[in-house]
Amino acid sequence: MSTTYLRIEQSLGLHGQTDLVGAKNAVLVIIASLILTEGKSVLTNVPCSDDVLQMIDLLTDLGAQISFCKEEHRLEVDTRTLIKCKVKPDIMKKMRASILVMGPLLVRFGKTDVAAPGGCVIGTRPINFHLENFRKMGVQLEQQGDFISAQADTLKSGKLILEYPSVGATENLMMAATLTPGTTKIINAALEPEVLALVDVLQKMGAKIKIAPPASIEIEGVTSLQPIEHSIIPDRLETGALLLAAAITGGSIYLPQARADMLDIFLFKLQEMGHLIHVGPQDVGIKLTACSRPKAVSIKTAPYPGFPTDLQAPMMAAQCLAEGTSIVEETVFENRLLHIGELQKMGAQIKVDHNKATITGVEELYGTQVIATDIRASCALVLAGMAAKGTTLMTGIHHFRRGYEALEKKLILLGASIQQQETCDVLAPETILLDQKEKSAF
Ligand code: EPZ
Repeated sequence: MSTTYLRIEQSLGLHGQTDLVGAKNAVLVIIASLILTEGKSVLTNVPCSDDVLQMIDLLTDLGAQISFCKEEHRLEVDTRTLIKCKVKPDIMKKMRASILVMGPLLVRFGKTDVAAPGGCVIGTRPINFHLENFRKMGVQLEQQGDFISAQADTLKSGKLILEYPSVGATENLMMAATLTPGTTKIINAALEPEVLALVDVLQKMGAKIKIAPPASIEIEGVTSLQPIEHSIIPDRLETGALLLAAAITGGSIYLPQARADMLDIFLFKLQEMGHLIHVGPQDVGIKLTACSRPKAVSIKTAPYPGFPTDLQAPMMAAQCLAEGTSIVEETVFENRLLHIGELQKMGAQIKVDHNKATITGVEELYGTQVIATDIRASCALVLAGMAAKGTTLMTGIHHFRRGYEALEKKLILLGASIQQQETCDVLAPETILLDQKEKSAF
């Protein structure tokens, strides 16, 4: 069995400027929302990541005509040939975001069969908030083994209460409500930038939606929605990864398309560490110049505008080398600290107590063999590998490919030494043998 891995050499002082791809967590739900329309839509600034390719496969399997020009990041989706309302289990299992087609399929076909999208390492990822509110909208649900069969001749509008501001549940219910007669109000809705990006797209399609304080979304059902042309917002999580790449290697970076207004707390924490941040007019464009000895900072993840859970692992890589003691509290997912074990292998001093980590900054990390456990952990380990002395070999790079479109190419252009390699080693990935000179570096 061959193993593909990234070989990351210590790469200090990353420097330069780069563009940003479209936001993964916006484009996936926006592609799903096209099911609500009848016609050909065009999306631009679409990232070519594995999750996007999965969502394209899903809609193609349902009958949509799709063409994706990867070089131009341009996606054309014609939904006039959509005929299926049942999502194949193998497609559902590959990507949790597949559940986001449930609302659109219910309003388009009056029924759908979806498989429970399964958990992943960061948590069991239940969908109870989605299902209990679909029931309130009059959907009959029946669990049939791995499948959830959903049926609703007409959906009912009304008040939907989310006990937790779930991003996916907000998006699923909002999409269903756009074509449901009457007024639907989602109380305690998620208002992440990616949710608001979906609101923009639905309004462009002709939906009647408004955001009502403190955190509610009010939808007035309409009879039809039109295809659209739309450019996907820049990915704030790629932005965070690139800023941290400059911060952790003591370099500087300029991201002309970055939206600082989507990352207030994250940028505040980088400044608290001592890094110099300059933001362009109208909050567009971010320049970071790293400080020589970053100071420890503490973070607690929370729904937007709190510290983003998707930047917790990448930030922790930087905190490992910050002077003093940092506390990280992960409140969104129940098991999103798996990268800690891998960072400890590199010499990080981290103690874990349930969902809280205490990090004592060290002078140096050391390259070694590490395994990425999820999308954002893979980013954390690439960042740590660039800062670490010696060579880091990271397996589990399918996670990296799922969440980022060739991020390492951008890092290489900024000065990083990263190569994708293959070993025909028949042993498990973590036993990739290093040649003698590299071993001495560990
Ligand atoms: C979205 O996942 C993102 N994924 C996640 O990004 C992100 O971390 C998350 O929102 C939080 O911001 C996409 O947009 C494709 P949630 P989602 O529903 O919608 C629990 C990444 O790395 N919950 O807000 O699944 C859930 O278990 C990914 O890009 C229920 O209990 O997140 C979690 O603990 C990871 N019941 C919390 O709520 C439900 O019915 C937040 O989940 C739904 C969620």
